[in-house]
Amino acid sequence: METGFLHLHKTTVILFLALYLFKWIALTFNVEGLKAFFAKKGLRIFEMVISTLFLVTGMYLMVKMPAELRTNLLWIKIALVFASIPLAVIGFKRSNKILATLSVLLIITSYGLAEMHKKNKGKSATIETTATLSGQEIYAKLNCAICHGQDGKLMLNGAKDLTASTLSRADIEHQILNGKNAMPAYKDALTPEQLKSLTDYVTSLQQK
Ligand code: HEC
Repeated sequence: METGFLHLHKTTVILFLALYLFKWIALTFNVEGLKAFFAKKGLRIFEMVISTLFLVTGMYLMVKMPAELRTNLLWIKIALVFASIPLAVIGFKRSNKILATLSVLLIITSYGLAEMHKKNKGKSATIETTATLSGQEIYAKLNCAICHGQDGKLMLNGAKDLTASTLSRADIEHQILNGKNAMPAYKDALTPEQLKSLTDYVTSLQQK
């Protein structure tokens, strides 16, 4: 479910950005053909649908997100998006180039922040103890549950349901060490023994 929302959100963000960039070009450089195109009724409806989907999916993801991922950067990003909306509405309606430019700049900045937020999230946690930990404890210490949930079923940020996983031990170890897509790599966080215990724990989830 969340994966679907994430994809929909990403798609609408890209469409939204593209739309506003083209509208901005039309206004700033007075491209009559492009302006007429954006004035079409069908396009205005399309724009409304895209903006609504973009905001609704964004808010949904925000609410569903674990508190650890709600960083200041994320709040700033959201504030920028909301600040840009009235500027865009007024700027484009009144053909005010300064306001329109400002709104496009805010939107682009917030997109840049979103990308930064993603990078920070990619940094993996580490285990700060030399004591021998059980696989379940390592799972907790490394915050695997942020994306996979305590029971392995959460599937946040595009994560897979660990209880439904059909991966072999070797593949699980490989994925923990190297990460994949939104999943960070834990190569530097685990000793070989810890990796083994963690993999035992993940395989035990598979059977549930
Ligand atoms: C930031 C989110 C995130 C965190 C934290 C995270 N994962 Fe993942 N995990 C993912 C994503 C996303 C995938 C799916 C990757 C893909 O195939 O595109 C995944 C997939 C997996 C898979 C493979 C499942 C399959 O059948 O393909 C395993 C096993 C796994 N994670 C274990 C762990 C363990 C153990 C930890 C903690 C050490 C962990 N993950 C932490 C996001 C995360």
